Amino acid sequence: MTSNAAHPSVRALVGSVLSLCSACACPSSPDDLPANPTITLSAEEYESARQTSSEAVCERCNGGSREAALREAGFFAGEITVDCSVSENADGGATVECHVGTQCDAGRAPRALAASPRSSLEGWWANMALREAEAITAFDELALELAALGAPAAFIERARAAREDEVRHAELCASMASVAVPPAPRLTLTPFDPMRFVELNAAEGCIRETFAVIDTLARASRASDARTREVLRTIAMDELQHAQLSWDIDAWARRHLGPPARSTSLAAKRRATRQLVARAGRNEAHDGPVALAPQVRRALAYRFIHRLAA
Ligand SMILES: [Fe+2]
Ligand SMILES: [Fe+2]
Repeated sequence: MTSNAAHPSVRALVGSVLSLCSACACPSSPDDLPANPTITLSAEEYESARQTSSEAVCERCNGGSREAALREAGFFAGEITVDCSVSENADGGATVECHVGTQCDAGRAPRALAASPRSSLEGWWANMALREAEAITAFDELALELAALGAPAAFIERARAAREDEVRHAELCASMASVAVPPAPRLTLTPFDPMRFVELNAAEGCIRETFAVIDTLARASRASDARTREVLRTIAMDELQHAQLSWDIDAWARRHLGPPARSTSLAAKRRATRQLVARAGRNEAHDGPVALAPQVRRALAYRFIHRLAA
């Protein structure tokens, strides 16, 4: 993550990820892809690769002309998969047959995916209502912590406005689930630790909340039901403002609290992006009103990280 990503416009960032991933479909592989490469490792190279890690032998396949052609066609590094089969040679070395493909080989994401059964769908919205109600308290806490840090009054105002957004989100989600609006949990005050504040804001706000906007807008664009589309978009556009607040607070805190805050923020963002990629491709049992195929979630996560690092 470079300094260019230090203080992005979340609207521009989200827009670029979603436009790059226009229909969240992968680019087309060229028809005339070069053949899968085969490489020969000497006994020494083979031994050293095997000792490094179980994937290290296949990693020697990187740089093959097939991979270069896929990159040329618009695939990002994270979307290109490399697998291999290894046969050991008489001299102790190995012949490695590389299998270079893409995560998109499993097929493109459907434009509109089937809705979950009504009961589980209502359960999903009810759960969302609870999470939105928790966010009300989280913004109460944020406003108090910003005051404790001596942050500009504008940040505190924006945290209070975000709190009101979360009230509306809880109401919207509860109405989608036909349940009563859940109450916001009571605020429990814990000893204030500025570095913990920086860490949580960087991971939860800058990385997870920004990616949640991308994820929600991608789902909204696939929703076949107009009401679902409207509710998801309304929530996402408010969350975009909340994510921007997190990045603005992050930039201010890094200046205000100096080098320890800078390293804490960077480490938290790196950890959160690693977790994001690890989780992006998992199959989720309860995926809400609109499911995103694992390869689409992975593509979004990689493109988000790529834009952050650009
Ligand atoms: Fe929300
Ligand atoms: Fe939010």
